[in-house]
Amino acid sequence: MVQRFSTRMQRLFSNLPKRYLGQPSPFTHAHLLKPGEVTPGLTQTEYALRRHKLMSNIQKESQALGLETDHAAVFLSSAIMYMSNDIPFPFHQNNDFLYLCGFLEPDSILILQSRPGHSMPSHTATLFLPRRDSGRELWDGPRSGPDGAVALTGVDQAYPLEEFKDVLPRLFDEKVTLWYDFMRPSHHSLHSNFIQPLIESNIKSKDRIRSTRLLTQQLRLIKSQAEIMLMKKAGHISSQAFIETMHWSKAPVNEALIYAKFEFECRARGAEILAYPPVIAGGNRANTLHYVKNNQIVKPGELVLLDGGCEASCYVSDITRTWPMNGKFTAAQEELYESVLEVQKSCLSLCIPGTSLENLYSHMLTQLGNKLKDLGIVQKRCSDSQFFKAARTYCPHHVGHYLGMDVHDTPDMSRSLLLQPGMVITIEPGIYVPENDTEALEKYRGMGIRIEDDVVITEQAPLILSAECPKEVYEIQQVCLQGH
Ligand code: GLY
Ligand code: MN
Ligand code: MN
Repeated sequence: MVQRFSTRMQRLFSNLPKRYLGQPSPFTHAHLLKPGEVTPGLTQTEYALRRHKLMSNIQKESQALGLETDHAAVFLSSAIMYMSNDIPFPFHQNNDFLYLCGFLEPDSILILQSRPGHSMPSHTATLFLPRRDSGRELWDGPRSGPDGAVALTGVDQAYPLEEFKDVLPRLFDEKVTLWYDFMRPSHHSLHSNFIQPLIESNIKSKDRIRSTRLLTQQLRLIKSQAEIMLMKKAGHISSQAFIETMHWSKAPVNEALIYAKFEFECRARGAEILAYPPVIAGGNRANTLHYVKNNQIVKPGELVLLDGGCEASCYVSDITRTWPMNGKFTAAQEELYESVLEVQKSCLSLCIPGTSLENLYSHMLTQLGNKLKDLGIVQKRCSDSQFFKAARTYCPHHVGHYLGMDVHDTPDMSRSLLLQPGMVITIEPGIYVPENDTEALEKYRGMGIRIEDDVVITEQAPLILSAECPKEVYEIQQVCLQGH
């Protein structure tokens, strides 16, 4: 078995072109990828299994619908976005496309087609991608080309994008059901030049065009062991970056500098990019939930809220910590912080199979309502429903969301779904008391506190991916004041 495995790996490795591709390959980037891997930590076999599962689910859905056709599932890459003339933003791949083939170049199309005469999930996987072009490669760097793409990703075949128009007439005729994300195409020009006209020319076949959105999200919702390993890595990198940033930051300091420090510490550990523009909010600015200007001075004695996370090997983390800038919580800061922390830990302890994000949200609101009563932020004589309402006022966001390749991962999956092993969620309660809230006790005004961890649901206790990131008061004070 070991022998067969290593022979297969040898063959995969020796098939790779001995040149740079459009993305790291085991040949050019042995420090990032092992033989047989398409992207770090994910093998050709894992990608093939994902495609296989997708086609299997398409098969089940089409049986339920009574469709007796062939099937073609089409996925578009992202396009390059430009910040100004000829100046591209860093490229980010469409994650459904990436999930199914691991190919990281823009302007590409993946097609999975059932094979006439064979029963699904048997299928042919084809990539159309930018042809090799020495003129363009001089400016943009190497491209994989069809041979490189097949050797790297393990799809069955690949062709230059120009040849896509030749297969179009056969892609969607009266004998085919087209599976495609027509509601939110990820590449505007590929959609409007190729797929839109195809759909319009088959206007009578509306019932043979089916969305892939739920199908891909159902797969992405449950992470494999390899995906959990990658999410552990993202959680580890971000947690270490938090520790370094907490230890280093001394007031007065510009939020922009904290941003730079946090990003540096993530990238220095191998993250490619931050997963989202971080929130770095000193004092009352923490009450603006999407504060991303990050350009004000944090003063000594203020709390700072940092909501940040990295993307490493295509998977993200999403962590929030709130800490005192001079390293020591005041009594009022500590009271509010401990309240949020207790609610957060209570929610974390309930992250087990069989509950749901909606149940956890209700639990969070009940617990926060009690804390608001204990703290005297709302009047003790209020009714239960008034405490619940107050909790929604002082924490206007949900308890969390699914996490994976995207920060707000699989957004069409209901938060009422029962949690299952392999799902990854965030737990992020907060209490936000704006400085102009004359109802609240004065000592709490101007504080916004959130604590956010990333959690894998398992058969046993929840696995907290951000567990290394300090959150107990004594741990935070120790990291800030003494180092680590
Ligand atoms: N950082 C975005 C969120 O926590 O949902
Ligand atoms: Mn979050
Ligand atoms: Mn967050």
